[in-house]
Amino acid sequence: AVRALSTNTDAAHPIKRVVVYGSGLMGSGIVQVAATYNYQVTMVDLNPAMLDKGTGYIRSSLKRVARKKFAEDEAQQKHFIEDILSRVQTSTDPLAAVEQADLVVEAIVENVATKRNLFSSLDGVAPPHTIFTSNTSSLPIGQLAEVTARPTKFAGLHFFNPVPQMKLVEVVKTNDTAPEVIETLVDFCKSLKKAPVQCKDTPGFIVNRLLVPYMTEAIRLVERGVASPEDVDTAMKLGAGYPMGPFELVDYIGLDTTKFILDGWYKSGEGLAGDKLVAPSEKLNKLVESGRLGRKSGEGFYKY
Ligand code: CAA
Ligand code: NAD
Repeated sequence: AVRALSTNTDAAHPIKRVVVYGSGLMGSGIVQVAATYNYQVTMVDLNPAMLDKGTGYIRSSLKRVARKKFAEDEAQQKHFIEDILSRVQTSTDPLAAVEQADLVVEAIVENVATKRNLFSSLDGVAPPHTIFTSNTSSLPIGQLAEVTARPTKFAGLHFFNPVPQMKLVEVVKTNDTAPEVIETLVDFCKSLKKAPVQCKDTPGFIVNRLLVPYMTEAIRLVERGVASPEDVDTAMKLGAGYPMGPFELVDYIGLDTTKFILDGWYKSGEGLAGDKLVAPSEKLNKLVESGRLGRKSGEGFYKY
């Protein structure tokens, strides 16, 4: 029998309010999609300027969606955007925000200590039923869950950039995640019109375990002087059918985030620590040091 998908408009649906931590590239995208599909959402960032930036990302992304949806009708476009934004609150107070949360989605900087601090402080304040999830690209979910007293209600919920466009979400279960929590998260993803896949808690899950070494190999190839970033990108787009070349993609993801992933895996990634596949790249390190973080800072391998 086909189980009816419960949605957030059903009284029985366990998730009504979603609290997203981090208003960067990913946090803002997750907020946009959740608000679009009728969830009440709070977007939290410690940095008020980043909250403004995140709201700006959401507005410009919604404008693109609205223009497509209601071609010539500006009033309809405006109504569509304002209706979605009416479900979004912003906050710089992490603890106050979690008091009302049914679901926490953490999308702050890719640093294990920073994420553990956040989750341990939230755990004491969040209602017992609140499900905690992390959008981490590379960190073990178990290492985040262990700082809380709710390991059965803790999972990975890994969205892809740009969130409004990319259909996939990886739902990551640890040894402790309760099956009904995974079920709720799978339903949540479907209610956002996303396609969830399930995966064990291993470094990089499915996509990044394949994609990050590929992007790093591309950087090494340029470091060896084999070809220019432009030619590598052209080659992978026209020769392998990728929508973006690896350098466009690193710029899109963020050079800092890519570096944090590599450094973490090289240091202690299960089955990856010390592997030359994930060794630091001098080129990447230098660019990050000089503040060239990709599209989000206006320059990475390319200028924007
Ligand atoms: N918000 C809303 N709508 C958007 C959008 C956004 N951010 N980006 C694109 N769109 C929509 C628009 O409707 C747009 O139409 P208009 O131009 O008329 O507004 C339509 O998509 C097509 O957009 P483009 O012509 O600009 O884009 P495209 O067809 O070239 O596709 C892309 C853009 C989807 C980003 C595509 O280039 C792509 O798939 N790139 C690869 C992305 C990828 O691999 N992401 C994964 C990164 S890894 C990761 O996320 C995991 C991690 O942990 C690091
Ligand atoms: P980003 O640099 O765009 O944004 C990170 C945000 O977190 C910043 O606004 C920062 O002010 C905020 N922040 C830092 N510490 C905080 C705290 N303690 N509390 C609240 N906010 C805090 O980063 P991003 O690209 O959005 O990545 C966020 C997470 O999502 C990372 O774990 C990353 O690995 C993961 N991720 C990134 C991508 C990508 O393509 N960029 C894709 C999937 C997953």
